Amino acid sequence: MKTKLNLNSDGSFRVTGVNNLNYLYFPLTNHYGMKSAITPKMSGDAKVDQDGFILLPTSIEDLHSSLAQRNVYFRVNDSYTWSITGNTAYQTLQPDQVTLDARFLCHTITRKSNDFECVIESFVPYDNYYQELHKITFKNTTDKPIDIKPVVSVPIHSRSADNLRDHRHVTALFNRFEVGKNSLINTPTFSFDERGHNLNKRQYGVSVSANFKVKHFWPILEEFVGEGGSLLDPLTVRENRLNDYKIGDVVTGYEMTGAFEHHEVTLLPQESLSFVVSIFMNETPQSDERQTNVDEALFDTLKDTTIQKWDDELSSLKITFGNKELDGWIKWTTLQPILRRIYGCSFLPHHDYGRGGKGWRDLWQDCLALILMNPTEVRTVLYNNFSGVRIDGSNATIIGEKPGEFLADRNSISRVWMDHGSWPFLTTKLYIDKSGDYNFLLTEQKYFHDKFTHYTKKVRKDFSSTSNILSTTEDTVYSGTILEHLMIQNLVPYYNVGEHNNLRLEDADWNDGLDMAGDRGESVAFTSLYGSNLIELSNMLFNLHNFGINTIDVLEEFNILLQDVDAQDVDAKQRQLHLYFDTISKGITGKKVALDVVEVARNLKQKGEHLLQQVRENEWLEGTHGSWFNGYYDDDANQLDDANKGHMTLTGQVFAIYSGSATEEQTKSIIDSADKHLYDPSVGGYRLNTNFNEIKTNMGRLFGFAYGHKENGAMFSHMAVMYAHALYKRGFAHAGNKVIETIFKHSMNINQSKIYPGIPEYFDPKGRGMYNYLTGSASWVILTEVTEVFGIKGNFGAIILEPKLLKYQFNKDGIASIKTLIMNQLIEFIYVNPDGLDYGEYTIDTVISNNETLKTRPTKYGVEITSNIASDTVYIHLKKKTKEV
Ligand code: G1P
Repeated sequence: MKTKLNLNSDGSFRVTGVNNLNYLYFPLTNHYGMKSAITPKMSGDAKVDQDGFILLPTSIEDLHSSLAQRNVYFRVNDSYTWSITGNTAYQTLQPDQVTLDARFLCHTITRKSNDFECVIESFVPYDNYYQELHKITFKNTTDKPIDIKPVVSVPIHSRSADNLRDHRHVTALFNRFEVGKNSLINTPTFSFDERGHNLNKRQYGVSVSANFKVKHFWPILEEFVGEGGSLLDPLTVRENRLNDYKIGDVVTGYEMTGAFEHHEVTLLPQESLSFVVSIFMNETPQSDERQTNVDEALFDTLKDTTIQKWDDELSSLKITFGNKELDGWIKWTTLQPILRRIYGCSFLPHHDYGRGGKGWRDLWQDCLALILMNPTEVRTVLYNNFSGVRIDGSNATIIGEKPGEFLADRNSISRVWMDHGSWPFLTTKLYIDKSGDYNFLLTEQKYFHDKFTHYTKKVRKDFSSTSNILSTTEDTVYSGTILEHLMIQNLVPYYNVGEHNNLRLEDADWNDGLDMAGDRGESVAFTSLYGSNLIELSNMLFNLHNFGINTIDVLEEFNILLQDVDAQDVDAKQRQLHLYFDTISKGITGKKVALDVVEVARNLKQKGEHLLQQVRENEWLEGTHGSWFNGYYDDDANQLDDANKGHMTLTGQVFAIYSGSATEEQTKSIIDSADKHLYDPSVGGYRLNTNFNEIKTNMGRLFGFAYGHKENGAMFSHMAVMYAHALYKRGFAHAGNKVIETIFKHSMNINQSKIYPGIPEYFDPKGRGMYNYLTGSASWVILTEVTEVFGIKGNFGAIILEPKLLKYQFNKDGIASIKTLIMNQLIEFIYVNPDGLDYGEYTIDTVISNNETLKTRPTKYGVEITSNIASDTVYIHLKKKTKEV
């Protein structure tokens, strides 16, 4: 049977034949921090953090392992063993029909066997518990009675993921399982750490509902399996075995499982038996009734609340095209940034690295979605994040547990990812555009401070402070405005140029894999982005000036970054940079000077324009294979892209288009070349690069990856979606749509992508979706849909409508709508296109709210609304364009 996916516009979906695909996993989680993954075979782990894995840590290939499964076995008519994992010998010979029904965030598997069916509903309650709940309903579907013996077994890891290889057996000796009324709870004596062991306070457990008639508890895994048995066919299930564990017993020193054997029961025709299994963890050795005694009624209530809460949380953005699958797919992308806030870039089966945190750029980019979905929290989050910026424009790379907590990298020499300084500006700009809160720019925040200076190239020998906050030479804490932070982050790179006058690549840029060109490498791609950041920053300053702000206070030493150094003189720029680094590394006075806003604005604009011009004029390639931009220089100072050899990078094009380095004509050539060299719908669209067929040790580790995987030439969603965004931004809506449409279509073809709805990090060479859920591309999909496709933009408090919807995106009645937050209002914008006009053919006719036509004034691609919007629905009528706008 082929696998079939049916996705609804609210995001709920059904997959029939879900058992025909491996590696499908689904996130079960809550904001309290319970992080689980579950597959149709009940594999996947459950954890709270790196040191608190309730179930065995499972990387993608471990999903095959029976030790990584939550299991309920049924001995049927005392003749064969059947299990909810589908893995028994009986099920291999007579496979179940398996269907998944999923919604935010509940996972329901229905398994149909010859004589019965079993439904397994699973979710993590949306509340403040570390808990996973499963309801198992086993129904006799024949007209004859069936005898069954249900046996629950959930192997419990109850320790750190590090102990998977590091003293796994020794840490089992700490186990201390207590037999409760309907529970088995492990409170290990120690948590293992050879630098100094700590008494363990955490408690890990499994319980079954009171209607589960426990005949025997089987806390020790090896006893449960039995000598000669296996987890596919445990003797405890197959045979009638005895043990004498009783309530109150404490069992110690072995690998544990939460196993409960039910008395044998007879199910009459059409009769069913159901019970609840709870898997949980506590921070203190005290479990409460909510964990150990969940009956069916409580299960149902918690499940309803969970569904409702997730629906509420996602209700601040709703997109309705003429295609329910696309609506549903976008709904899943709106959940993904939330998932990355919870899981970090670790803790789902593909993400078998990291310890739960995420990096600087991910921190900022996930905020893009937060601004669009949950703006109330976002000001504080952004504000706190700025405390990670160093006064030299680099930033802390170790991000702490608490929001806004940044830690010093005390052991290793920390690195500079040269793109890091560019993201806070993009996020802050979106925040101000969407909220009108320009005062945020003038709010003061501290700077991060540790032993590193000169973009981490030098170390302060005398650094002894335990505080990571920058102080002046007078020993008072220094704070500068957010604007000052942004200007430093974007001006320092301006001076940090390599021999071709592009910004130095340092230890890598957005592409983590370009990590071996630290001496002579340059990132032309990010030269463009920093260029447009400087120009946009300058526009912000002009706007501030329009609001009556004439001067800004900045650190005295900041003036060094504003000097007029010959833009073509690479050495002079480096000298200026080192003057700034040397000055601030000696300690700052803390003295502030007031600068004229307009003068600073002009200065930034000039610098920004120089960067764009530098790329436009010096990095454009024309060759036998087409025309496009060079994106990088390697460590031998050679261009990476080559239009004669057909070597092309997508990143090199994306930021040139986004920033305006690329002219309109150049953009058209890039689109043609990308279609020719990078477009491959069998892997979801535009690849990150062509095959260089060379292990380029002068560029980075990615050239050691097999071609077509991850950062070496896969369709890497984050960059591809940013390509779409850039194209839309420049008015190339059809080309932009093609990028997202191809990813969407490929993802939705479940037999090809082999993932559930949503956008994965990339597709592998065979088209399989990889690293699904936790990817920064989801934020960019949402951003592009809201601000470009539907064109709902803001500008310092004004609302601008610049739709770039294509004809086919309207439904049969000519309607396409978006409900989104802008200026703290949740508004549904309904575009009405009765004549079925395509992008390029229409213009905005009227904007109506509360039966009144709102006042507007034209902008480049649409209109700015100049009157107040008094209702939560706005109709925008489109009409045929009469002349070119
Ligand atoms: C991942 C990282 C991101 C990095 C990118 C390319 O992308 O999270 O920081 O820039 O790889 O190396 P993502 O998983 O967010 O799509």
